[in-house]
Amino acid sequence: MDLLTTGDGSPTLVSPRYREGYHPREGARTQAERLFATLSGVSRLPDPRVIEVGFGLGINFLASLQTVRARGGTLFYLGLEPEPVPVAVLDRVLSGCRLAAGEAERLLLAWERGLDFVLTGEGYLLEVRFVSLDRAELPPGWADAVYYDPFSPKANPAAWSLANLAKAVQALRPGGVLVSYTVAGWVRRNLTRLGLVPDRVPAYGGKRHWLRARLVSGSGPERPPGEHKPA
Ligand SMILES: C[S@@+](CC[C@H](N)C(=O)[O-])C[C@H]1O[C@@H](n2cnc3c(N)ncnc32)[C@H](O)[C@@H]1O
Repeated sequence: MDLLTTGDGSPTLVSPRYREGYHPREGARTQAERLFATLSGVSRLPDPRVIEVGFGLGINFLASLQTVRARGGTLFYLGLEPEPVPVAVLDRVLSGCRLAAGEAERLLLAWERGLDFVLTGEGYLLEVRFVSLDRAELPPGWADAVYYDPFSPKANPAAWSLANLAKAVQALRPGGVLVSYTVAGWVRRNLTRLGLVPDRVPAYGGKRHWLRARLVSGSGPERPPGEHKPA
């Protein structure tokens, strides 16, 4: 797997299977900070709870940790990852990232064992489960934010099925948000049917918009409605 250096100097990978980058060429760390940690509201909450669909290289986790820890909070983070990269690859990515460096070391040690793990440290509790969203069990009504990051709907449509979205939404607390880089109309329509209010928010770099969808208080998916699919 070849590393790429993105526009802000942080590295990423291109997935041979999905033929897509793990992060945008404009900046892996910048997207993690602006879209996932900030647009989600995680950077402003005292002790945020996050579920990430597609833990990937851990860059969103480390960027979120950095911002939460700077304010003296504690980050509770559950990451799902069905296809973990080899530890040597993760090592190269994280040493190029300059994010929460001490924690990157601990993450590598846990990753190397190849088993689900829980890691605690200053200002965080991280659980990583090596499983895909469709096979995962998630705590209902738990998360302040879902980072929905399993590659794009075009590259990985199965990950964006209505059943998968509904599962992620059920893990959100009322008022919680789901954030993603895609603003595809059919994804927004499915989220609306699941009780969220999706907004297109100005993005950074090559994208015009990112997605932030908030779960309206007291609503939520009760019965899966008919699925909207791409044309
Ligand atoms: C764009 S990368 C994620 C980058 C990551 N969030 C980071 O901060 O480094 C997409 C990841 O989603 C994972 N993935 C693909 N399908 C998935 C699924 N159905 N459920 C959970 N994760 C999935 C891939 O294995 C890949 O690691």
